[in-house]
Amino acid sequence: MLANEFGKMLQYKNPASKLSPEAETDPSVQNCSSEHDTQDAPAHPPGLGTRDPGTPAAQRSNPPADRQPLRAAGSLKGVEPWAGPQEPAPAGVPGSRVPSPGGWVLRGCRRYSSCLPGARGDAGEGRAHFTTPIFYVNAAPHIGHLYSALLTDALCRHRRLRVPGSASTRFSTGTDEHGLKIQQAAAGAGLAPIELCDRVSAQFRQLFREADISSTDFIRTTEARHREAVQHFWRLLEARGLLYKGLYEGWYCASDECFLPEAKVTRQVGPSGEPRPVSLESGHPVSWTKEENYIFRLSQFREPLQRWLQNDPQAITPEPFRQTVLQWLEEELPDLSVSRRSSHLHWGIPVPGDDSQTIYVWLDALVNYLTVVGYPDADFKSWWPATSHVIGKDILKFHAIYWPALLLGAGLRPPRRIYVHSHWTVSGQKMSKSLGNVVDPRACLDRYTVDGFRYFLLRQGVPNWDCDYYDEKVVKLLDSELADALGGLLNRCTAHRINPSGTYPAFCAACFPSEPGLTGPSVRAQAEDYALVRAVATLPKQVADCYDDFQIYKALEAVSSCVRQTNGFVQRHAPWKLTWENPVDAPWLGTVLHVALECLRVFGTLLQPATPNLADKLLSRLGVSATERGLRELYFLPRFYGHPCPFEGRKLGPDTGLLFPRLDQSRTWLAKAHRT
Ligand code: MSP
Repeated sequence: MLANEFGKMLQYKNPASKLSPEAETDPSVQNCSSEHDTQDAPAHPPGLGTRDPGTPAAQRSNPPADRQPLRAAGSLKGVEPWAGPQEPAPAGVPGSRVPSPGGWVLRGCRRYSSCLPGARGDAGEGRAHFTTPIFYVNAAPHIGHLYSALLTDALCRHRRLRVPGSASTRFSTGTDEHGLKIQQAAAGAGLAPIELCDRVSAQFRQLFREADISSTDFIRTTEARHREAVQHFWRLLEARGLLYKGLYEGWYCASDECFLPEAKVTRQVGPSGEPRPVSLESGHPVSWTKEENYIFRLSQFREPLQRWLQNDPQAITPEPFRQTVLQWLEEELPDLSVSRRSSHLHWGIPVPGDDSQTIYVWLDALVNYLTVVGYPDADFKSWWPATSHVIGKDILKFHAIYWPALLLGAGLRPPRRIYVHSHWTVSGQKMSKSLGNVVDPRACLDRYTVDGFRYFLLRQGVPNWDCDYYDEKVVKLLDSELADALGGLLNRCTAHRINPSGTYPAFCAACFPSEPGLTGPSVRAQAEDYALVRAVATLPKQVADCYDDFQIYKALEAVSSCVRQTNGFVQRHAPWKLTWENPVDAPWLGTVLHVALECLRVFGTLLQPATPNLADKLLSRLGVSATERGLRELYFLPRFYGHPCPFEGRKLGPDTGLLFPRLDQSRTWLAKAHRT
């Protein structure tokens, strides 16, 4: 959508607005202002009181005709009007961008980089900023939180493999520290809110450090830089005539920090046996709220949001979540209350120029995504909208409706992408403190190792559906895929007995000709062996596409399937039955090991985003140096295509023990866990 189209839309829907003189000095704000000053448009924003996907079915008054739009209280640093949805991202970047090492561009060689970088939908070589949601500090982290952070970490690490250079990729996480929920939790614990925040925020930080979350920024919403960003953002909305004061009356759920329409509230028997109103979705208690608040003209953004989502099919991934949001948008959007009375909510950022009101915690929290890229300093524009959010499905509405609407209101584009995941349940039940079934992620990292637990969550977590957690599942998966299949394969190819020289043996093209179906005395390769080469050659692209579609579990499944195929290859040719001393066996023995080591090198490279330490151990054992681990350097089996292989004849790295020791041999803790 063009900027002036957006302006026109505002003209129709936002007649009451008048910009402050301060705002009029900002050309981007002016862009809207001239459109706002129309006389004959309707007096009230439409959409109040209608049902929405969970926003207030506000039984609040429309803004009185005499209510003046709010005045901007401060100066507004340059912010451009929204210029329509982003151009669709290029569907892959031409291979010519990728330098060809040594000048050899191979006919038919699986030079993975030729189908890189970015897979689909990535802005190629440009900047990319990934964010986790910021985590509430009312309780200690659980595995669901770690999962959100791990998914983001894996996306980010995969991108770094495609586009090297630490400056082009950023990754932020942090804690969401304001709001009624935290205020109440602190009071319940007999702590000052900031004490609770310091304590729990440190736990998140520590967990992420232990889990090797490679974030480049950790934001706390209680920081001064964030307060400045939020207040600036608020003033901008105000200056654009998008805030008004009105009476809000409706349900509020402090646990979920959201307003609820009557249709989303039900009655449940509480602990005292009395029926009490709760949120239909979360089951958390709700309370009736009636107060004068500042209200954001959310109703005006329904059409722009629809257009954004229709024009950018990748805006929300996986697709069913984009469809959900489009469905929500089929109904009118009510305006959104964006402040609370300070007497009720004191733990938050005050409304600029009106200390009697505190900014709604979701507005506060969402702006963290701008704070971390330096907003409101002009520099932030080099990272916005190059930002992608990873979120759980429970916070889709906030990220896919409120946030883009707020951004559009502030003259900014929606984020590049929103990746949505589902939840972890425990033995079929929602994880909750009251049920006492919260799984402690630090204990899991201890038991299963950092890489083991990372692998489990990423391999088993499916974004489209909830997944159930139980300990036996972890043990079974890690033992079979990491210890036996991958570790066993490495062992088979590197053990002294079979590879006494401890090198990457030579590939013999006469034993494994590039043309399938050739016959001759030296040809030993069979049809299945060509299938293996094909599968591993296309694996990096397949993995990249899975990352792009936010199907990380499928990427790991694809790797795991190739590991199985490679084990089948080794099993088929039983190199342990061949001897180096026999001149007929030796070239084929070397070839079998060479092919298997090449496959392992691809697996190690592709596993780096999910299991960085394990992949490092694997690649180091293969003698692959740090500069040979990127996706651009990933040339699979060049000797098969008649080209030199830099690894052939190279000494393997030192043997540092089992790649991943089996877990089921030391299961005393598991038995103990079941007794408790
Ligand atoms: N503070 C808000 C987010 C603000 S972002 C501007 C919030 N915090 S949260 O701590 O409740 O949740 C943070 C993330 O953890 C969300 O993505 C949420 O979906 C995720 N999870 C919380 N419980 C989960 C599971 N049981 N399973 C998987 N993820 C879960 O919402």
